[in-house]
Order: sequence, then structure tokens, then C-alpha cells
Amino acid sequence: MVNLKVRIGSLELSNPIMSASGTFGYGLEFADKLDLKKIGAFVTKGLSLKKRLGNQMPRICETPAGMINSIGLENVGMDAFETEKLPLIHKTGAVVMANFFGETEEEYVESARRLEAMDGVHALEMNVSCPNVEKGGIEFGSDPAFLEKLTKAVKKVVKKPLIVKLSPNVADIRPFASAVENGGGDAISAINTLKGMSIDVKSRTPKIKRVFGGLSGPAIKPVALRMVYECCNTVKIPVIGIGGIASLNDALEFLMAGATAVQIGTMNFVEPEICQRIAGELSAWCVAEGVSDITTVTGSLKIA
Ligand SMILES: Cc1cc2nc3c(=O)[nH]c(=O)nc-3n(C[C@H](O)[C@H](O)[C@H](O)COP(=O)(O)O)c2cc1C
Repeated sequence: MVNLKVRIGSLELSNPIMSASGTFGYGLEFADKLDLKKIGAFVTKGLSLKKRLGNQMPRICETPAGMINSIGLENVGMDAFETEKLPLIHKTGAVVMANFFGETEEEYVESARRLEAMDGVHALEMNVSCPNVEKGGIEFGSDPAFLEKLTKAVKKVVKKPLIVKLSPNVADIRPFASAVENGGGDAISAINTLKGMSIDVKSRTPKIKRVFGGLSGPAIKPVALRMVYECCNTVKIPVIGIGGIASLNDALEFLMAGATAVQIGTMNFVEPEICQRIAGELSAWCVAEGVSDITTVTGSLKIA
């Protein structure tokens, strides 16, 4: 018997493989492709207090080994999530992590308060790659002092595990990981997308209407792995590794670098069952390698 259970704050997951926010809808879109109970958890599309329509199209494009998106945090809003989506999600038996964001500190706190009160939401993932309207559009996650203050303010109103998802668009991610830990966050997830752009040379126009978007997929994996490793060496709270995971081998690299669990994003668009497949492969790998407890793989990287 292999023990694949991992702990994120007070929440125990049956295995460390999850789907990433924005690439798995509200879970329901994937319910006929895989058994949601067989993955550690799924993370919802980023939720805000009010419904958002998102950015103008075109807002996604392909890149070598990845994609750029500028969806603009389109979502159904808290009310519709609670009344229309959550009751159906609950029936699947999935472990639900609700990703959320705001444009002001008050919006973050209010969103967290709403999610805390919803039965069927097991943990909260706070996306701080969102422009702060009160601070001239600078992302919340780009100032460690502000991030610590935001984490503290949100933590005050939630008892469920609070995961803070870090932006990679900073010179050094380590002070941000420390800010989350000092602010009382239960875990860190890293990384969100890397700022990028792409041009259609025929029309000489940007492939994304808003020119810049977020790069994701296998193209970002080495950068993500380095940043996750840096976070793991900086804090004691669990780190969830994200970025370009496309195979069991990729997932193992993140665990060995110190991640407690991983999330798979872009590759869900290529293979909707990927999370369940990799969870199964991880179990088989443990048996073949004589690993009885997955937590012993976390941080097992050997550096001479
Ligand atoms: C189309 C798309 C939408 C996304 N939406 C969100 C979102 O709403 N909130 C969030 O925190 N991250 C969002 N992300 C980022 C992913 O959750 C993930 O952090 C990133 O894509 C890197 O992982 P990957 O390379 O496996 O895709 C989105 C990514 C994509 C591709």
C-alpha cells in the first residue's frame, strides 16, 4: 500500500495532483472526462464578488511549447458560483479549492469571507496577480510588505486553509514567499503565468488584443521549477508547484525540489484526463521505487 496523502494546512488531500485555476473551469466541464474524486483537488476559475466578462478577443494564442492568455479574469461571480455551480460540484465528491481575487484589499477580504461561509469549499487560493486599482494598477503580488498585509487581513476572516498564489513577474520570489508565511498564509502556490507577447508578422499586429498576456505550458517549466525550489528553501509552510507540468516526470521534479503537491494547468486543454492519469502513474511509480509514503519524495533532491 502506498500512502499518497498530503497535507495543506488543515486539509488532507488523497494525493498531491491537482488541476490549476482557469484551466479547469468550475470542475463540471471536466466531470464526464475524469473522476474528480481521484485527483487531490481541483481549483476553480478565479472568482470575484461580481461577475466579470473579461478582456476583448483575441485573448489566447499558441506559442512554442505553450500558450499566452489574457482572459482578464472572466468569471460568473460569487452569487452564481454559490447557487448554480457549487451544488453541482458538491455532487461529484471533489475537493474544491476556490481561487479568488479583488481589485482592492476590501474586495479580497469580502470575497474570502463569502468563500469561508460556503459549505463545499474546502480551501481558498488567493491570486495576487491582479492590478490594485488603489495603487495605480500595480499588482498586489509585486510588493512584499503589501502582500504580507493583504495575507494578514484575509487570514483574519478565514479558518479554511489559505493558499497564496505567487506571481513570477518579480526579480526575486523569495521575499514574497516570506511575506505569505509572515502574514499567516497556510501554503504558497507558485507560479502564475509569466508576462509575454507574440506578434503576427503578416498583419504586424499583436496576437493578443491587449498586447501582453500570461505565458504558460511546458515552455515555463524550468523557470517555475527554479522558483518553486527557491520558495521551498525560504519558507516552512507547504509549497504547491505549478508551471508546465505535462508528465509524471515533471510532477516528480517539483516534488523533489520541495513541493508538497502540484497543479497542472495548460495541459488540461491537451488531455482533459491528465490529472487523473498522472495521479495513477504516481502511485505505480511509488510501488516500483519502493516508496511507501509520498511525503518522503518531497525535498529529496540530492545536491552534491
Ligand atoms: C487560460 C488560463 C486561465 C487562467 N486563469 C487563472 C485564474 O483565473 N487565476 C489564477 O490564479 N491563475 C490562472 N491561470 C494560471 C494557471 O492556474 C497556472 O498558474 C499557469 O497557467 C501555469 O501552469 P501551467 O503551465 O501548467 O498552465 C490561468 C492560466 C490559463 C492558461
